[in-house]
Amino acid sequence: MRVLVVGSGGREHALIKKIKESSRVDYIACCPGNGGISYDAECFNVGATDIDGVVALAKQISADLVVVAPDDPLVMGMVDALNNAGFATFGPKANAAIIEGSKVFSKELMQKYHIPTAEYKVFDNADEVMAYIKEKNEFPTVIKADGLALGKGVIIPESLEEAEAGVKEIMEDKIFGDSGNNVVVEEFLTGPEVSVLAFTDGKCVKPMVSSMDHKRALDGDKGLNTGGMGTVSPNPYYTDEVAKECMEKIFIPTIEAMNKEGRTFKGCLYFGLMITPKGPKVIEYNCRFGDPETQVVLPRLKTDIVDIFEAINNETLSDLDIEWDERACTCVIMASGGYPKSYPKGIEIKGLSDGQLDGVTVYHAGTKLDGDNLVTSGGRVLGVTALGDTLENALKKSYDGVKQISFDGAHYRNDIGKRALSALK
Ligand code: AMP
Ligand code: GLY
Repeated sequence: MRVLVVGSGGREHALIKKIKESSRVDYIACCPGNGGISYDAECFNVGATDIDGVVALAKQISADLVVVAPDDPLVMGMVDALNNAGFATFGPKANAAIIEGSKVFSKELMQKYHIPTAEYKVFDNADEVMAYIKEKNEFPTVIKADGLALGKGVIIPESLEEAEAGVKEIMEDKIFGDSGNNVVVEEFLTGPEVSVLAFTDGKCVKPMVSSMDHKRALDGDKGLNTGGMGTVSPNPYYTDEVAKECMEKIFIPTIEAMNKEGRTFKGCLYFGLMITPKGPKVIEYNCRFGDPETQVVLPRLKTDIVDIFEAINNETLSDLDIEWDERACTCVIMASGGYPKSYPKGIEIKGLSDGQLDGVTVYHAGTKLDGDNLVTSGGRVLGVTALGDTLENALKKSYDGVKQISFDGAHYRNDIGKRALSALK
């Protein structure tokens, strides 16, 4: 089979390395890809949101399967366009990807079908939001831009002044464009967070092993929100009991709700959960594999991923036994100095040979080949990933790897997995 993967981050690199293990695949292409991906797949300079360009590329390379990994092209309808052109795909159609594309949609879906989530109200006008927040006068509160915002559309103000500044940025200055036309204001929940990615063909849902992201830039969950600074799998807060409750109250009801709405979801549905004192609740849905969750989940997948993609397309997922490695997996992100704010690019990365390092798997996110040199080209640069018999061993390997890699200004968190380790004690 010839497979095309759309996207350019660490998640796409993890998908490609897993697809490469399939005995059924003899050629992998990626667009646009990155420096590290180019060691594993042929990269083409077609943008991940260029729908016509991707359809043309799929034709050019005679793709048997196209995996659309990022949120934007899914929400824009890239899968629909590829299917219309006769290509088999992995990823939801636009009418289902809206579960991530619009927070207003997802909140209304959960309310209508009694899926546990934070209480909320929707607004299309900044004055009304502020009047509501003033009247409630409960902090912290949570304000979310309706549409896609590179994972940065959520603010958690601690005061009225912070709320005012945030609402102004989102609704008046439009820092996220039309994504801020509507906002959701919701109740602040507490508890550990769990990410669960799930395969679904619209008929059955098969959760993958759980993981824990670390979203803040600095140690101790301080600093700005980022796309994710590291992950561990499994997540110790996702006990068998919690998993059972999530299956009954969240996963199956969500799949059924989407079917009832005429928006059958096929692909990977990401459940961002919080285990609150009142049970698990949905913080967010994503219509795709998470980044950097994929980097710790897929290394544990033992079943041929192409068989899973095919079963989803054929709606025979319930017949397939999906097997997982018992070992723990950890990923520590090395980011550019300054990220998630502005950062320099083009800085030489030292310590890797052909993009890799013995003892770990290095998933590339923001790297580029400049001649023979690997240089930085994004905020999150590398995900240094390891499997271990215990979480502790996996973390040790990831951090040993991190210490052998360097680029000017590199920063990473020193406490990835710390909370998970303490929960195990
Ligand atoms: P999201 O982009 O929806 O995942 O939100 C980013 C982060 O904000 C989440 O990972 C949570 O840590 C936090 N968050 C979102 N919604 C809530 C909420 N209702 N209560 C508390 N924290 C939240
Ligand atoms: N790591 C969070 C996300 O992929 O949205």
